[in-house]
Amino acid sequence: MAAGARALHAAFDGAPHVVAYAVKANSAGPVVKALAAEGCGADVVSGPELGLALACGISPDAIVYSGVAKTDAELDLALAAGPRGIAAIQIESVEEVARVAARARTSGRTARVSLRINPALDADVIDTHAHIATGHDEAKFGVAQADVTRALDAIARAPELSLEGLTVHAGSQLTATDAYVVAARTLFDLARSLRARHPLRFVDTGGGFGIDYGAGCPVEPADFVRAVRAEQKRAGLEDLILFVEPGRSLVAAHGVLVAATLQAKVTRGRRWLLVDAGMNDLLRPALYQARHRIVPWSAPAHPEAEWSVVGPVCESSDDFGVHVLAEAPPDGVAILDAGAYGYTMASRYNGRALPAEVFVRDGGVIAVAARRPESDWIDDRLASSVASARS
Ligand SMILES: Cc1ncc(COP(=O)(O)O)c(C=O)c1O
Repeated sequence: MAAGARALHAAFDGAPHVVAYAVKANSAGPVVKALAAEGCGADVVSGPELGLALACGISPDAIVYSGVAKTDAELDLALAAGPRGIAAIQIESVEEVARVAARARTSGRTARVSLRINPALDADVIDTHAHIATGHDEAKFGVAQADVTRALDAIARAPELSLEGLTVHAGSQLTATDAYVVAARTLFDLARSLRARHPLRFVDTGGGFGIDYGAGCPVEPADFVRAVRAEQKRAGLEDLILFVEPGRSLVAAHGVLVAATLQAKVTRGRRWLLVDAGMNDLLRPALYQARHRIVPWSAPAHPEAEWSVVGPVCESSDDFGVHVLAEAPPDGVAILDAGAYGYTMASRYNGRALPAEVFVRDGGVIAVAARRPESDWIDDRLASSVASARS
């Protein structure tokens, strides 16, 4: 993880930048602290994520806050952080301008903001799953091109707002730099035209650097940075700080989901390996038809056979796909590349406890977050029925 962060920093070649780690990918304290220690900032999408980033020692000046629908309480938190609030509240609609200005007025502070534009990429340019392609016209994210002037005018009219930057995010799990560069070009064109009347401090080209889940990924995270820096230079914007917002690429490969075999089920020529981890622990296969590599705990043995690896959750989509393992069912498996959008998307569906987390550095365990007893779920559900009976 540290090496990944260092490689990204190095790709900037000493130019002013912030690697704003997208906390949503993996919000475990040891992970966020380790990336903070490597000089990363943060991209957050909720009040709790903002609170966590600050508690992990990330400077408010290196934090940007994305998201289409922020509550007043969340905006207040962003405004109250540090001596000047966070680096930027990323405004994602014309309507949000007035909401942020109102909270700034109430708090007596100037809100540093950026405008997140929707780059209106053709869906086929964004080479990723539809559910994680954000930079197209039909997505809820960012200010549509047609509304950019209205949004900028509204910001200019609000004395409580200071426009610091412009932001774009093409989508997640990009395995080529093309869409990222096209989105950045749209951003840089706007930045260039805007600068004549408005000083800017930064441009933010978002996250989305893909990783190899087994089907290959010919580009490295640093390739995205190098490609976008070349574009920034061409646009004559080299003096602006370049923010990038990688999440997955910093953490995914560093996590595995460890699952024990509960039993095998062989029927009608099909082998099912029923394991004790499910879609509530790792939602990506069910949510995006994502495929993770799976390896047995022990060394693979022969003869081999195809197993459908599935969890215990009562949904057909609780399915990690067909994998070649030994014909004899293994005691358990490791589901690889589960370090991003794993625990952060986990739920207690079916009354299942959230998984334990074990953090390892240099071959040694540095922290353990134990699994809570399943009886906690029963207590919680009973408590909510007591509360509603009283109200
Ligand atoms: C605005 C924004 N920035 C950054 C990210 C991080 O993306 P990734 O984890 O693919 O790098 C996301 C992911 O959805 C996002 O929506």
